[in-house]
Amino acid sequence: MQTTGVHSWCVGLTLPLILAAVLHQGLADVTPPPAPVTTAAPHTDPARPDRGTYRLTSSNGTTCLLAYMGLQLNFSISSLPQNKTLQQVLNVNPNTTKALGSCEAESAHLRLTTDGDKTNLTFVFTLNTTSDKYHLSEVTVKAVLPEMKDPFSAQNSSLNYLRGTLGRSYMCREEQTLSVSANFSINTFQVQVQPFGLKGEQFGAAEECQLDEDDMLIPIIVGAALAGLVLIVLLAYLIGRKRSHAGYQTI
Ligand SMILES: *[C@@H]1O[C@H](CO)[C@@H](O)[C@H](O)[C@H]1NC(C)=O
Ligand SMILES: *[C@@H]1O[C@H](CO)[C@@H](O)[C@H](O)[C@H]1NC(C)=O
Ligand SMILES: *[C@@H]1O[C@H](CO)[C@@H](O)[C@H](O)[C@H]1NC(C)=O
Ligand SMILES: *[C@@H]1O[C@H](CO)[C@@H](O)[C@H](O)[C@H]1NC(C)=O
Ligand SMILES: *[C@@H]1O[C@H](CO)[C@@H](O)[C@H](O)[C@H]1NC(C)=O
Ligand SMILES: *[C@@H]1O[C@H](CO)[C@@H](O)[C@H](O)[C@H]1NC(C)=O
Ligand SMILES: *[C@@H]1O[C@H](CO)[C@@H](O)[C@H](O)[C@H]1NC(C)=O
Ligand SMILES: *[C@@H]1O[C@H](CO)[C@@H](O)[C@H](O)[C@H]1NC(C)=O
Repeated sequence: MQTTGVHSWCVGLTLPLILAAVLHQGLADVTPPPAPVTTAAPHTDPARPDRGTYRLTSSNGTTCLLAYMGLQLNFSISSLPQNKTLQQVLNVNPNTTKALGSCEAESAHLRLTTDGDKTNLTFVFTLNTTSDKYHLSEVTVKAVLPEMKDPFSAQNSSLNYLRGTLGRSYMCREEQTLSVSANFSINTFQVQVQPFGLKGEQFGAAEECQLDEDDMLIPIIVGAALAGLVLIVLLAYLIGRKRSHAGYQTI
């Protein structure tokens, strides 16, 4: 009789252990392998850009567009004498960047001028008044780059990035790449932007991007698995106790 009690205790202990091992294996699959050590980098990309605060005010003095974001510009320049494509990655320094622009009922233009007019970057946000959704619809860039005679320019007016709802802000903590043309893309870092429907000087409720939600999913799964494990251990303990109790009674 007593052996069944011991036996159930063994089951109660081994089951969580097996589960823990399985869980650990699952986690090991999720975590990325360590980054390979690069001995000789062909060119060094700049570090993460600083996060800037850009604000547009409407004619009556209220803030009509607010953006917190770190921006990194990625230019690909074909260099004829060297017969190859050069990559130029520039961080937008918020300390030397001015925000200009205008807010209209269905569109907002944010123009960032940085580095003593060497780079002009324009973002156009469009509001769909039927669906009350907004998005980044157009990006224009003009930049004077070293190793280039003519200024670099690129434009795309059929973009669909940073989608949000009127009265709310768009947020993405993760790094995101906004591809504008074959030769130009923007890496964004920790974006929070609201181009329409600001209440006072504040952001509305934030709508998180998919990348952030995917990132949050892993802790949620781990949390749920751990909760399940605790429940199993508890059940095993209760069953074990009941059995050993019953064992004592029959003796
Ligand atoms: C300021 O102008 C915007 C539109 O340009 C309007 O939505 C807002 O209500 C105005 N605010 C005040 C205080 O008049
Ligand atoms: C810049 O763009 C090129 C080509 O699209 C890409 O290979 C490279 O990884 C990008 N660099 C950064 C820092 O995003
Ligand atoms: C953009 O890239 C293409 C090839 O990918 C090249 O032919 C073109 O000259 C580039 N434009 C600029 C402005 O560098
Ligand atoms: C430039 O590159 C192309 C292909 O990438 C090659 O066919 C051509 O011979 C190269 N020209 C020179 C001068 O290196
Ligand atoms: C911008 O200014 C702040 C404080 O004035 C400084 O800490 C920061 O390093 C500057 N950023 C850059 C990229 O120069
Ligand atoms: C606005 O949204 C509605 C509903 O989603 C859609 O049918 C319409 O085509 C959109 N308008 C524009 C200009 O994109
Ligand atoms: C950026 O805009 C300013 C003001 O309009 C202008 O003076 C400057 O030449 C522009 N820079 C480039 C690279 O086009
Ligand atoms: C503009 O962006 C759209 C959507 O990302 C892309 O399909 C299109 O090729 C781009 N146009 C140009 C000229 O790069």
